[in-house]
Amino acid sequence: MSKICLCLTGKTIKQDVELLNKYRKFADLAELRVDCLDAAERLYIRRFPEMAGIPVILTVRRDVDGGYFTGGEGARIKLIANGLAYANADSRFNFAYVDIEEDFNIPSLEEAARTFGTRIIRSCHDLKGSIEDIPAKMKSMRHAGDEIVKVAVSVKTTRDVLNVFRASNSLINQDKILICMGHYGIYSRILAERFGSFLTYSSALSESVIPGAPGQMDVKELSEMYRFRRITKKTKIYGIVGNPLKSTVSPWFFNTILNLEDADAVYVPFPVTDIGDFMELAEGMDVQGLSVTVPFKEAVIPYLGQKSEIVNTIEASNTVYRKGNLWLGENTDYTGFSTSLLNFLDMKNLKRKKITILGAGGVSRAVAAEVFKMGGKVLVLNRTVHKAKELAQQYDFRWGGLDNRGIELMSKYNDVIIQTTSVGMEGHDLSDPLELYNFTGKEAVMDLIYTPPQTPFLKRAAEAGCKTLNGYDMVIRQACLQYAIFFGREIPKKHLQHIIEGNKWDKIVSG
Ligand code: ATR
Repeated sequence: MSKICLCLTGKTIKQDVELLNKYRKFADLAELRVDCLDAAERLYIRRFPEMAGIPVILTVRRDVDGGYFTGGEGARIKLIANGLAYANADSRFNFAYVDIEEDFNIPSLEEAARTFGTRIIRSCHDLKGSIEDIPAKMKSMRHAGDEIVKVAVSVKTTRDVLNVFRASNSLINQDKILICMGHYGIYSRILAERFGSFLTYSSALSESVIPGAPGQMDVKELSEMYRFRRITKKTKIYGIVGNPLKSTVSPWFFNTILNLEDADAVYVPFPVTDIGDFMELAEGMDVQGLSVTVPFKEAVIPYLGQKSEIVNTIEASNTVYRKGNLWLGENTDYTGFSTSLLNFLDMKNLKRKKITILGAGGVSRAVAAEVFKMGGKVLVLNRTVHKAKELAQQYDFRWGGLDNRGIELMSKYNDVIIQTTSVGMEGHDLSDPLELYNFTGKEAVMDLIYTPPQTPFLKRAAEAGCKTLNGYDMVIRQACLQYAIFFGREIPKKHLQHIIEGNKWDKIVSG
């Protein structure tokens, strides 16, 4: 089973000991990042293993490898030698591991380390993501049989992650460390077990210390929310796939319930650049189910072996799950949205309601189909007018652009305004998609976005006196439906209550 390593990047030994004491229950081992220590503090590293009380990795990371050590190689070797010197017969008082690079070649030091039970982590930091054949690289790196080979790659695309994942089958039965650094590799840190990695590195991100490397997760979150230490080969993997997926409430929602149910399953954020590459990776990682969000709800369709009726109609899927060798596609946005809207308006249907839908993308299609079914009279406005036209014509709705002409039409369709574009969402264009429109204050306004809780558009509507609702209610409703699809059971009411009462905005997970 993979271990959690807490990176200690304080400026002083005292600070590192304090950090370790505060977070030790979440970590199996610690890494003393000597390169982060003030120069004067580096003199005292030899005493650290004894103070730590858990196994410690000794690391002096060079700046060229993504660390902070800028001195010469001679000075660095001296520091490492100092850390390994005066080895104690009781191995608890020695560093348990020393991280040295593939080009580090001081046989006497390495021999001394081995003699006193300090295992060598032979590392390669590929900051450019340029290694093509990672398995070959791993084989060539190892100087001796008991070394732990570590390859950390800066990933910019999902293909890069796939490349690293393929190496998980190399050096089988040998301890190795594989890491994808950066935002698009965040799930390799949670699913270290699936990547065949001996350990995962994490930091105490809520403290004022620098993270050990880009994309590292918070040690407490990793341990408590993702229950990292419980992830085994049998654990069922689920997650949310999107881009940029900078903030999503779904991992908190699902993991809280899975935790309350004590289920052997975990739900992971999957920020991806290419859905095709990811679906291949998802099969490799044995993923069982996916929530699909912006911008992949339509792009995922070609990968589905079977589609529900609604997915066939609207050609967009937000729920994908595994059955045998196939991916099945469902769409829970649809029912999640309609129950949320009717509850908001306190109505049973939308007859006699004049409605404007902003947007004509994947989500808008689900919204349009449902509003049609509930009997609303609709105008679809979209930046790209022909897409509004295509959508509107399916239901005999009217259409227009987000321009003066479109705004004029709106005066007859403004009982309810439903905002379905990505404008105003964290990580996207933060403007107001309807800036030309003046709210009367009588409109009921629903924005499907929930991060941030109030978009500039929704804020303006609320300030004009409109009744407003953001997308959180809908997201919870559709997630409940997804849960039932993924796990074949409803969420127990008491667990749902726990979620609803939880301080949701604090729980949004940033990837
Ligand atoms: P989703 O699956 O979430 O609906 P999508 O299919 O990519 O995502 O659709 C995004 C919607 O947001 C579209 O209606 C898009 O308008 P275009 O069809 O003109 O692209 C809309 N959108 C995105 N960025 C926008 C912007 N800056 N201004 C106005 N509309 C925007």
